[in-house]
Amino acid sequence: MDKIVILTGAGISAESGLGTFRDENGLWAQHRIEDVATPEGFDANPKLVHDFYNMRRAESEKASPNAAHTALAELQKSFAGEVILVTQNVDDLHERGGAETMHMHGSLAGSLCAACGHRWPSPLETRPEDPCPNCARPATRPDIVWFGEMPYQMDEIYAHLGECDLFAAIGTSGEVYPAAGFVQHANASGADTIELNLAPSSTVSHFAQTRFGPATQTVPAWVKELSGK
Ligand code: APR
Repeated sequence: MDKIVILTGAGISAESGLGTFRDENGLWAQHRIEDVATPEGFDANPKLVHDFYNMRRAESEKASPNAAHTALAELQKSFAGEVILVTQNVDDLHERGGAETMHMHGSLAGSLCAACGHRWPSPLETRPEDPCPNCARPATRPDIVWFGEMPYQMDEIYAHLGECDLFAAIGTSGEVYPAAGFVQHANASGADTIELNLAPSSTVSHFAQTRFGPATQTVPAWVKELSGK
């Protein structure tokens, strides 16, 4: 087996104490998506959006990587072939667990200038009036991909999916595209597919194998099996 592509979602960070989106009392039960995760919401009330991501950044800082994050970093180091990790998450727990990660939905660690497109490392707290370090305009926004915006690095991700031998989805509900469609690309490439989740996702029927349970149990066991192969 030469290449594994792994997609993770909020479920892999749940046991680190970070809220998921669609579980009971999840983030979308507490905040309206259109207010805090769309360009229109940002234009209407940039302070509300900055405060939402300041809260998530503070929670992410307080959280620690769990056994699932570190198991995937271990797999990247020990596996003879290539392990491409793509996350929908915007926290940095994969990196802090030692993994190389592609953030298709952006990252809390980054700020973006809505005026000139400049990117820089985000401070813990950001405000709408923060001047862009490049063009000095007060157009700072979180470097997060909102609904209606194009996720990052898609060409690269599809190229990886086109040539992988195994695709795994971990801790994602399969509710949001394009990520939810990755399993179909993997199937079209003839790859084996596995879903590791607490409960069946909306796309569970596209996976050849499924393992249910908390990620801190299912992921280390799966990585151990792969490393033995
Ligand atoms: N271990 C494994 N899976 C878990 C755990 C756990 N401890 N806890 C929850 N899960 C699973 C849930 O069963 C659910 O299927 O994680 C999934 C979380 O689903 P969502 O909350 O929808 O999160 P996610 O799939 O990452 O959302 C995708 O939606 O709102 C957008 O941009 C946002 O990136 C996000 C995208």
